[in-house]
Amino acid sequence: MECIRVTLEKPRKYSYEILIGEDIVDRKGWITTVKNHADRYVIITDSNVNPLYGKMVRARLGETALPVDIVEIPAGESSKSLNTVLDVARQLVRLKVSRKSLLIALGGGVVGDVAGFIASIYMRSIPYVQIPTTLLAQVDSSVGGKTGVDLPEGKNLLGTFYQPKAVYIDLSFLKTLSDRDFANGLAEIIKYGIIGDNNLFEFLESESDGIKKRNPSLMKSLVGRSCKIKADIVEMDEKELGLRRILNFGHTLGHALEAATDYGLSHGEAVSIGMVGAAKISHRLDHLDGASCQRIVDLIKDYHLPTKIPAGLKTAQIMGFMATDKKAVGGQVHFVLVKKIGAPFVTPDIPSGVVEGTIEELQG
Ligand code: GLY
Repeated sequence: MECIRVTLEKPRKYSYEILIGEDIVDRKGWITTVKNHADRYVIITDSNVNPLYGKMVRARLGETALPVDIVEIPAGESSKSLNTVLDVARQLVRLKVSRKSLLIALGGGVVGDVAGFIASIYMRSIPYVQIPTTLLAQVDSSVGGKTGVDLPEGKNLLGTFYQPKAVYIDLSFLKTLSDRDFANGLAEIIKYGIIGDNNLFEFLESESDGIKKRNPSLMKSLVGRSCKIKADIVEMDEKELGLRRILNFGHTLGHALEAATDYGLSHGEAVSIGMVGAAKISHRLDHLDGASCQRIVDLIKDYHLPTKIPAGLKTAQIMGFMATDKKAVGGQVHFVLVKKIGAPFVTPDIPSGVVEGTIEELQG
């Protein structure tokens, strides 16, 4: 089992562990690490994950002889709403959940974001842990304490930074993921290779056959290296005041494409096209050499992720969505670009003609 520590400088030092391994949640030892802070447990999960893993996690927690309840929310992005928050919070009140209880987010990004948000505001905050069950949640959303829900006006517009007590990444959950969900997570792993670690990028290139077959030891290495890159960044900039923005590589265009397709593209698919866009803008502005730009495009293709904008989307429409992204600062769209693989930087200074030209190239 691998262990990565996230240490945050707060008024007092706060840190938590990300434990990564095969079948860790189904091991007896797991329960001893989860025992702190709780006089009872409430698992928050969704209608897809509950039938697969709810019973097993509940049985393990039951070995503590403390009460364990399960609160299920409907699977899907539409559950990332204030209605779900109110509904779950009222169930917690009925269950007599107190500040000494522990919430357990068992699921993908939606469950993690909603459960984390509830934990941050219920009774002015109670502890929670993350058990992410998708690759995307394992390498991204479960680490770093971003929580939140959507508004009709946009995604993640209500939320908090609220760190979990621990993250338990059980790689055996990857076995039941659809190919699309698996690729969704791989897009974020490719992102870590591009922004954080040339060796990880080369590993993704050389081991792609085994990774695509979900080889357990390759997946353990990939998930561990990705979490370590994210943990290092979050340690330095928990509240996304500067450095953490490099995690948005590919997301400026990616978010616009998700919105423009009414979320017909998955997050990973949209970010993949966005990463190609960011690499091409980096090249057009002479920051990145052509061969490295091509390696980025080839790697994304190799993992069967899209590199072109779907037909039918207009450049002006995509530009409009980029301008309204919540991460636009003072109306200015910021891009994360790269000087080389492993060397990102954030800039607002991109001539709109370069962005438009790149979008048009990606439509071809
Ligand atoms: N997913 C980007 C971040 O956590 O900052």
